[in-house]
Amino acid sequence: MDGERMFDIRKILLDDLKFAVNLTNTMKWDLVEEDFKYMMKLEPDGCFITFDDAKRIGIATTIHFDKLGWLGNVIVSENYRGRGIGSLLVRHALEYLEKRRVETVGLYAYIPKVPFYQKLGFEYDSEFVYLKGTAVSLPIKDCTRKAVEDDFGKIIDFDHLCFGASRRKLLKPIFLDKENVCQIALDDRKILGFIIARRYGGIAEIGPLVCQEKCDDIAAELIKNILNQLQGCKVSMCIPKKETILLNKLTEWGLSESFPVARMFYGKYSEKNYIYMAESLERG
Ligand SMILES: CC(C)(COP(=O)(O)OP(=O)(O)OC[C@H]1O[C@@H](n2cnc3c(N)ncnc32)[C@H](O)[C@@H]1OP(=O)(O)O)[C@@H](O)C(=O)NCCC(=O)NCCS
Repeated sequence: MDGERMFDIRKILLDDLKFAVNLTNTMKWDLVEEDFKYMMKLEPDGCFITFDDAKRIGIATTIHFDKLGWLGNVIVSENYRGRGIGSLLVRHALEYLEKRRVETVGLYAYIPKVPFYQKLGFEYDSEFVYLKGTAVSLPIKDCTRKAVEDDFGKIIDFDHLCFGASRRKLLKPIFLDKENVCQIALDDRKILGFIIARRYGGIAEIGPLVCQEKCDDIAAELIKNILNQLQGCKVSMCIPKKETILLNKLTEWGLSESFPVARMFYGKYSEKNYIYMAESLERG
């Protein structure tokens, strides 16, 4: 809050999307109106905009999966920063999620923003690296295959074990969209890992990847397969810094670090032992 001044917050409407895109363009987040429409579809009451009188000045988005929520796209117009508006937006988003019985909220923060979120009650969990590059063709082994509709139930259950909540509402539409690619690795009928990439024209966001622990070879094969299918596309992904074997391979395959982020949690989060790559920065 800025002295006696009140900044209103309400849910984002279609009319606000031009502002949201322009604002996020100042940070080069590469978002388009469709990205916000997608967030609004997934969490209709959980995408927020704040105002100084009638002037739009900041946004934040949320999504919740059972008791686990995710916060993203937190941004305030540059000339309004440092006046408590970012904090107000984050607290508003947390209240919204708490009303939906969310017990833990995650986010990916730029490293310099870690203290901002710590002040709001988030705790540092671990470092991730955001990678970018162009997908090239690589030699592959025959230990993974394209996922088919019958695999979806298995994939969701496996993802749930790793993520800690069911992401069905997020992953089902991604899985069913024929533009996207999904690869699975099975040992007999037991799932060892899967990977999904969302494709938009010549761009693809790779993730999530979930793989049994110590199965780095399988994770590498899943990634290589996806890169083969996305040949020529500009790709990005967000992977834990501790996955050094995979990170080294990804560098060999032409990807490079764009920026580091810190995964942070508000409330308890118990790390599961899986190899994990994020779905996206704004949804976990
Ligand atoms: C991160 C961001 C959203 C914070 O928004 P903000 O409105 O500046 O946040 P706040 O004003 O609540 O807090 C920011 C700082 O101002 C201070 N502050 C809070 N209320 C204040 C007030 N009334 N007067 C002066 N300063 C205040 C806070 O203590 C905080 O201090 P710090 O810099 O030491 O951490 C904003 O910097 C931003 O949009 N950055 C670009 C996008 C981005 O990086 N988003 C985060 C992605 S992880």
